[in-house]
Amino acid sequence: MGRALGGTSVSHPVIEERPAAHGDALNVVRAAIAEAAGPGAAVQRVVDLLHDRFPPYDWVGIYWVDGSDLVLGPWTGPEATDHTRIPIGTGVCGAAAASGQTEIVADVEADPRYLACFASTKSEIVVPIFDGGAVIGEIDVDGSDLGAFDDADARFLEEVAALLAPLRPRTSADRRS
Ligand code: SME
Repeated sequence: MGRALGGTSVSHPVIEERPAAHGDALNVVRAAIAEAAGPGAAVQRVVDLLHDRFPPYDWVGIYWVDGSDLVLGPWTGPEATDHTRIPIGTGVCGAAAASGQTEIVADVEADPRYLACFASTKSEIVVPIFDGGAVIGEIDVDGSDLGAFDDADARFLEEVAALLAPLRPRTSADRRS
C-alpha cells in the first residue's frame, strides 16, 4: 500500500506500469493457447485461467458476434447465464459490441443498460475482441464487489482479447458452446 513516510515527497515518472500479476497472466495465457489442442479448447483454457488467477473475476465468458447477435461461447463461473444470445445494442455487452469501446460498470444497479444474470453481480467489465477493425466478440467479466474493475483490468483484458481474436470459431454453429 502506498503511504507517505516522514513527509518526504516522492515524484513518480509518468510511465504506464503493468501490474506484475497481469504480465504473468499474459505469459501463462500465451503458453496455454500455444499448447491447447485446438481453438475451442484454447478459449476455454483462457477463460478458466482468468477466472482462477483473479479472485474478483467471478464469472468470465466469451461472446462471439454471430450476425446481429452475440452468442455465448466458453465461460467459467458459479452458474450458467440465461443470456446465451444477446442482440448487439442490448445490455452492457451489446453496447460494447456496438461501440467497440470497453465498458466498465462500477455499479450495475445504476446502469439502465444492464441485463441481470446473477443476483451476486455488482460490477461488470466488457472488452471487445477485434479482427481487422471489426468487433468479432468480447470478454465479459462479472464481479460481486462494487467497482471491482479499473483501467488496469481494461488494458490487461484488451491484451487478452488480442490473443483471443485468431481463435474465433469459423462457423455460426461452432460459435455456440
Ligand atoms: N450483464 C450483461 C449480460 C451478460 S451476463 O452478465 C453473463 C449485460 O448487461 O449485457
